[in-house]
Amino acid sequence: MTSSGTNPEQRPPAGPVGSAAWELLLPAASAPARTRGRSLQAALREAVRSGRLVPGTRLPSSRDLAADLGVSRGLVTEAYEQLTAEGYLRSGRGAGTWVGGAVRAARPSARDLAPRTPGSRADFVAGTPDLSLFPRAAWAGAHRGVLAELPHQDLGYPDPRGLPRLRAALAELLTRRRGVVADPERIVVVSGVAQATTLLGFALHARGVPRVGVESPGSPQHDALYAAAGVTTVPVPLDEDGISVGRLRDAGVRAVVATPSHQFPTGIAYSARRRAELLDWARSVDGFVLEDDYDGDFRYDRAPVGALQGLDPDRVAYAGSVSKSLAPGLRLGWLLVPQSLAEEVVERKRTMDLGHPTIDQALFARFVERGDYDRQLRRCQRAYRERRDALVSALDAYLPGTQVSGIAAGLHVIAALPHRYGPQDTVLARLGAAGVTVRPLTDYAHVCAEPDEESGVRLVLGYAHLSPARIREGVRLMAEAAGG
Ligand SMILES: Cc1ncc(COP(=O)(O)O)c(C=O)c1O
Repeated sequence: MTSSGTNPEQRPPAGPVGSAAWELLLPAASAPARTRGRSLQAALREAVRSGRLVPGTRLPSSRDLAADLGVSRGLVTEAYEQLTAEGYLRSGRGAGTWVGGAVRAARPSARDLAPRTPGSRADFVAGTPDLSLFPRAAWAGAHRGVLAELPHQDLGYPDPRGLPRLRAALAELLTRRRGVVADPERIVVVSGVAQATTLLGFALHARGVPRVGVESPGSPQHDALYAAAGVTTVPVPLDEDGISVGRLRDAGVRAVVATPSHQFPTGIAYSARRRAELLDWARSVDGFVLEDDYDGDFRYDRAPVGALQGLDPDRVAYAGSVSKSLAPGLRLGWLLVPQSLAEEVVERKRTMDLGHPTIDQALFARFVERGDYDRQLRRCQRAYRERRDALVSALDAYLPGTQVSGIAAGLHVIAALPHRYGPQDTVLARLGAAGVTVRPLTDYAHVCAEPDEESGVRLVLGYAHLSPARIREGVRLMAEAAGG
């Protein structure tokens, strides 16, 4: 079963426009006013015809689409009406507009066919957003604006913490979106969570904290990043509430790096009880929690979990970046640092690179101030929710009995295959031979982990970088290869 065969009325109500479709609509939105309406209709028609908007997809309300594209609502309403009349779209019985089933989709585009891993027919490795969603036009506009307005003195060496304008914009953004306590004086603009991690490693080492607990399973990056600062990592297991605080105490460490909002890679959100226990532990050892909020902006089915830092900004250092929301290649992130570590962190940042590039900082500040960043987050959220839904329904259809978890947030899920597919080594060998690139959960354990025979093979499946059509095709290939 594919969703193209699904009755539109049965599809999830908050249906999105796919990212590929957005790619087609955006240039039309910036066409000259005289031809904008026609361009928008042509682009929408093309999105349906090319299969980028699959039959049954519910379109956003005319108000939302108009706001996201920066065009008048009337233009969108007119486009919906025109395409409904032509049979490309249909109106639901209640409110809502859907992609009709009358159009035969053309071949997938070359972009959709290009695998990320050479030789791979389907690549589900987690960690990368859809780079084609990068808002090139808005970014170029912000760049022009910044070059026109940037005072000469801002082209000199910056404050190592970052431009005051960006720190103020980040304080507002992060307080509003993530519930942190953000004092612009204690924000350091960094080149990503990776640099924030190394800077904190140096600061901890200087305070006589040479060992840091890390979640296991957890991010494979932490070991090398802390090692660069002379800090050793100690794996600490998880239970269903989050990192095990008992095991943290046993490990004898005074700092831990954690992903409480959406644990990487299991996808669990730490329970309220565990969050409180973790903070109690940090206070009892005069220690720190380093909160890696790597994908905190993407929540689909539940209210966002506020950042842990908001509960105790003197014990929790909070790091985030634009790597999942814009592009990892921008190398732009932020660190909210506890008072007692601030001086050491800022001094390290200064000696490391004399501060972050100022034009990039001013550009991002403008992007945030003008609401472009919120718009981008909404756009990604819609696209990724659609892909998450496509993955969950494809797993259900092609690999029945698979238990899918960690679906409420982020850019990947955990899929536990039923026993009938055989042991992990066999499954991975079959998938590899069929050109399906996946990583098992055991790859993310910091100590050598055996596959859990109780729950079968557990795969970490990234979906954000794949179109819904590629996701369905990839899962179909996976099922064909896995047998069972
Ligand atoms: C859990 C986690 N933390 C941190 C990072 C590094 O992020 P950044 O690009 O912000 O340095 C990644 C990158 O994929 C990640 O998955």
